[in-house]
Amino acid sequence: MRLTPEEKRMLSGEEGRATRKAMEILVALGEIYGAERLVPVSSVQVSGVSYKNLGDAGIEFLRELADDGRARVKTTLNPAGMDLTNWRAQGITEGFASKQLEVIDAYRRLGLEISCTCTPYLAGNEPGLGDHIAWGESSAVIYANSMLGARTNREGGPSALAASLTGRTPLYGYHLDQNRVTTMAVQVEARVKTAEDFAAMGYFVGKIAKNGLPHFSGIKQAGLEEAKELAAALASSGGVAMFHMAGVTPEAREVPKGVETVSFGPTDLEEVTAGLNDDGDPDFVSVGCPHCSLKEVATIAGLLKGRKVTREFWVCTSREVKRLSDKRGYTKVIEGSGAKIACDTCMVVAPVETMGFRVAATNSAKACHYLRNNGLRVRFLTLEKCVREATKPN
Ligand code: F3S
Repeated sequence: MRLTPEEKRMLSGEEGRATRKAMEILVALGEIYGAERLVPVSSVQVSGVSYKNLGDAGIEFLRELADDGRARVKTTLNPAGMDLTNWRAQGITEGFASKQLEVIDAYRRLGLEISCTCTPYLAGNEPGLGDHIAWGESSAVIYANSMLGARTNREGGPSALAASLTGRTPLYGYHLDQNRVTTMAVQVEARVKTAEDFAAMGYFVGKIAKNGLPHFSGIKQAGLEEAKELAAALASSGGVAMFHMAGVTPEAREVPKGVETVSFGPTDLEEVTAGLNDDGDPDFVSVGCPHCSLKEVATIAGLLKGRKVTREFWVCTSREVKRLSDKRGYTKVIEGSGAKIACDTCMVVAPVETMGFRVAATNSAKACHYLRNNGLRVRFLTLEKCVREATKPN
């Protein structure tokens, strides 16, 4: 791989041990994937923040890097395993919290923004069309590639961090035009209207598309909330990192001749929704996977107004959206009902399976997928029905 003089200096260790380690990771990756060179990135999103996933070995790795490594570009962080200020109210143990705070301390020393959200594009990290970025967090990667037209591969924790410490990433995969073309056409015949319908459709298509690039046609409208649910689901049942949607995404073109075509009809919508529902009465309700937008928080506040929750109810969102929600009075309504606004974390990366919950209700197909993997039973419901579950009499 061709390196610039500055990159060679980084690799030689002249710019510190952490930078050398980071450059070694990027060069190794670039060689595996046949990249000719590295490309500068304008922003990084680092995943691998919850102590639940990192463990003590992860803390050790971060501490070593933080000795002399510093972020060179804007770098935001994925959710942690708890609300960083309100963790006691969430039922997080002292032991977990102290480890999680060690992780955050290492990231802070590395110069990362402690944003702790999977929707960085709603919290001040919004790349533009054609920008090269290096993002972890599969739901954010697919949103950035598809809806924003930015360019990123699905980075893992170490490779995203390496991009942050060097300001570069290997030029391959979704950074190149030839890899951003449709590999599968999806003809949408079902009436896909709500964000939950989009999530179900994404879950269906992701399983078939695997690592491909689906192109959706037949959708009349898709806003931010619908696209974020679709994106998250495509990236969880499959490994999809980008989609096109006629009339919605900036790089949607005519579908190339000869690609596989699948249809998504009313029966598919019913079946995939039913398949994401287990038996059981929810004892935990959580929305905001990916993290809620301000519009979603406003809707939840409207639904909760004058009501009290009867079950643990988390509204997961970014601190930035919470700040706006505070200003507009939504937080007061939500917290007044007994629900919790869970910042910095979510129902999947927090250790909810150790907190006694058995059945979780959520409006996210992605959350259903991972909560099941974590041993919970799930109910996949609309946002309105989630609020109804959270407030129904015991
Ligand atoms: Fe975000 Fe957690 Fe879902 S990180 S996409 S809310 S699993």
